[in-house]
This record gives sequence, structure tokens and C-alpha cells, in this order.
Amino acid sequence: MSVSVDPTSSEPGPYGSAPVPASAPTDAPTDARAGVGAEAGETADAVLRPHAEDAFAAELAALAAQDDRPRPARWRLSPWAVATYLLGGALPDGTVITPKYVGPRRIVEVAVTTLATDRALLLLGVPGTAKTWVSEHLAAAVSGDSTLLVQGTAGTPEEAIRYGWNYARLLAHGPSRDALVPSPVMRAMAQGLTARVEELTRIPADVQDTLITILSEKTLPIPELGQEVQAVRGFNVIATANDRDRGVNELSSALRRRFNTVVLPLPETTDAEVDIVARRVDQLGRALDLPAAPDGVDEIRRVVTVFRELRNGVTADGRTKLKSPSGTLSTAEAISVVTNGLALAAHFGDGVLRPGDVAAGVLGAVVRDPAADRVVWQEYLEAVVRERDGWKDFYRACREVSA
Ligand SMILES: Nc1ncnc2c1ncn2[C@@H]1O[C@H](COP(=O)(O)OP(=O)(O)OP(=O)(O)O)[C@@H](O)[C@H]1O
Ligand SMILES: [Mg+2]
Repeated sequence: MSVSVDPTSSEPGPYGSAPVPASAPTDAPTDARAGVGAEAGETADAVLRPHAEDAFAAELAALAAQDDRPRPARWRLSPWAVATYLLGGALPDGTVITPKYVGPRRIVEVAVTTLATDRALLLLGVPGTAKTWVSEHLAAAVSGDSTLLVQGTAGTPEEAIRYGWNYARLLAHGPSRDALVPSPVMRAMAQGLTARVEELTRIPADVQDTLITILSEKTLPIPELGQEVQAVRGFNVIATANDRDRGVNELSSALRRRFNTVVLPLPETTDAEVDIVARRVDQLGRALDLPAAPDGVDEIRRVVTVFRELRNGVTADGRTKLKSPSGTLSTAEAISVVTNGLALAAHFGDGVLRPGDVAAGVLGAVVRDPAADRVVWQEYLEAVVRERDGWKDFYRACREVSA
């Protein structure tokens, strides 16, 4: 027998997110990013970080209105419009869709197409390559709901993926639909929506395997009730996993076969990475009421250059080999170094982003291991930064904070 899960149930799941008020804490990533058009900061009780579908509601509505291509069952948009939402573009009526993801178009097209098939999507990549970000925006564009989220940790129990029980009701009335607390995945199955599983490879292997039946049979048995929930059309799963976690809990090959893997790369060129950082810093700055930094792009380029050179182990001109520090020095970290720098400039400077505002942040990102990384940093500072034209102020600022 098939049963449906009450989509209006106000019962919050014990582990995943539930249809809670927008201001309640969720399992969503906790950085305070908000989209363009988000009105965060305008009123005192504005949420710190609106969900993608709220922050970009106007863009999604414009896309839906002008999208005349076929939409898979229960999709809010056609695959083409979902890709446009992610990559940006202009609509026939002039509406500008801001790019959310900056990277190869093909990657986004493959990811979106996968969601329209019977295979689930696994976004794989090193830290800070926008896996979580892309997963949230895909769910928002496809299902209009990015909140059906399971955060994977070493302690994620099966209940977080299947269902749990409200023990008061269970004891009072015995097992019944009323006592069952559906997981975000179960709710997504019942409503034909996109479920998200973050950090899949951190979840213990036996718990991961709960997903196998869900993904291959598209059904979730509830043996206690002699029932099952059958996924309705439109249901799919987006999982993310970190390259660096590989080996922690390797995906079983049975599970891997149920996923199409899409690897999100690091930005290919310095220009692309500067562009990503500038865009995100601008959005974040607006959400935090920071003044715009029109002159900050030089500083952004410098931070990105330092990160890329140390990450790649060689200077941009290819001449000098460098040692790489232990940290990842990801785009995401560059974004946070620059945002913190802007906040410093706004609150304690004259609002202009200067080398002194980013030096401490760069040092903090590079020197993770006080012994080994400090040597790497000092070598880089003296051999590269010191000698570079136009980098005198930055060198001095770095010396000051490194001392
Ligand atoms: N190519 C990119 N295009 C747009 N934004 C990007 C890109 N790369 C990184 N970012 C930005 O980096 C930030 C961090 O991304 P996110 O948290 O999604 O990374 P992640 O891959 O999930 O990292 P982790 O493995 O640590 O969970 C986001 O604010 C995102 O906007
Ligand atoms: Mg992530």
C-alpha cells in the first residue's frame, strides 16, 4: 500500500530541515551570504540569509513566466531555464538573470540534465568549489524549495534519511502515520521535489546505503506500519562530497552507480576567480550593509593571485617553484578574506580596501599549521611578494601582521 506524507505537516524532522519559518535556524550552510535582490538588512528582523528561492524569487518568477520549453514533471522550470538561472543571461523582456555559478556551461547542463533522469546527482570537488551553493540553487530552480536538506556527518543516523518517530505519540497511540516524523528525503519523495544530501561521504557507510533502495526502487518502506512511500515524479537527490574526504567513508560502488558524478573544478584562470570573488563580495557586502568597494578590485586580484600561486606551487609567470601550505586556499576563503577586509575598511578605515585590511586575513588562511605553514609563508613573502612591482604596501602590511 502506498501512502502520502502530509506536505503541510508542521512536524519538524528530528535531523533534517522542515518547513519551518524562514527565520528559524536550518541546516543550511551558515555563512551569511544573500543574493542580489535580497532585502536583508532593510529591516531589523530581516533574515540573515534568505534561502535561494526567496533571495532570487523575482528572477525565478521572470524565468517561469517566459519559459515556454517543456518542463519535466513537477519542475518549476525547463532544464534550459534552470541552466540560465545558474549561469545568468538576459530574458526576452529584458530581465537580467545574475550568474550564480561561474564556470563551464557544460558542467551545469550535465548537472541539470541528470536531475531530469532517474539517476541522482553527485557534485564532487575540492573544498570551496561551490558544491553546496550549486546544489542549493539547483533545488531552488527545479523544485522551488532548497530546504529539504540532510547534513551529512559522522553521526548522521538512518532516521535522518528515512524517518523517525515522535516518541510521545508513539507511546500514547502506538505506531501510526501520526507518530511518524518524515525525513527531508521522505518528504521530497512524497511531493516530487529535490532532496539534498550534504557531505555524503562523511555519513557512515551503512547509513549511506539506506539511499540505495530509495534511488533504485524509488520507494521507502515503513515496515512498522506495513506501508511504503513511493516517490512521485519529480523526485530526485543532489548529494555533495568533498574530494579531500575521500577515504573517510568511500561511497560503495552500489551507491555510486545510482549517481551521475559531476566534478566542480577550481576556477581555470585568475580573471575568472577574481570575477567570482568580486561578485560574491559585492552580494555579501550588500547583505551586511558594507559600502561598495569600487577600488577594491586591485586588492581582490592580489588576494586571488597569492592564493592561486600558493595553491599551484608555482608563481603566475611559471618561473618560481613554491611550497604549498596545508590549507586549501579556496575561492570561498578568498571571498571571506576580502569580505572581512571590507568590513575592516568600513568600520575602522575610510571605506577603501587597502593592503592592510586583507593582510591579516591572508596570513590566517595561509598559516594553518603554525610551524610548517609559517616557513612556507615567510619564503613566499621574501622571495615573491617583496620583489613584485606595486606590491610594496602589501609586503609591508604582511610583515607587520606576520611579526
Ligand atoms: N565557480 C564559482 N562560481 C560562483 N561562486 C563560487 C564559485 N566557486 C566558489 N564560489 C563561492 O564560494 C562560496 C563557497 O562555496 P560552497 O560553500 O558551495 O563550497 P563547497 O564546494 O560546498 O565547499 P565545502 O567542500 O567546503 O563544503 C560560495 O559563496 C560560492 O558562491
Ligand atoms: Mg559544501
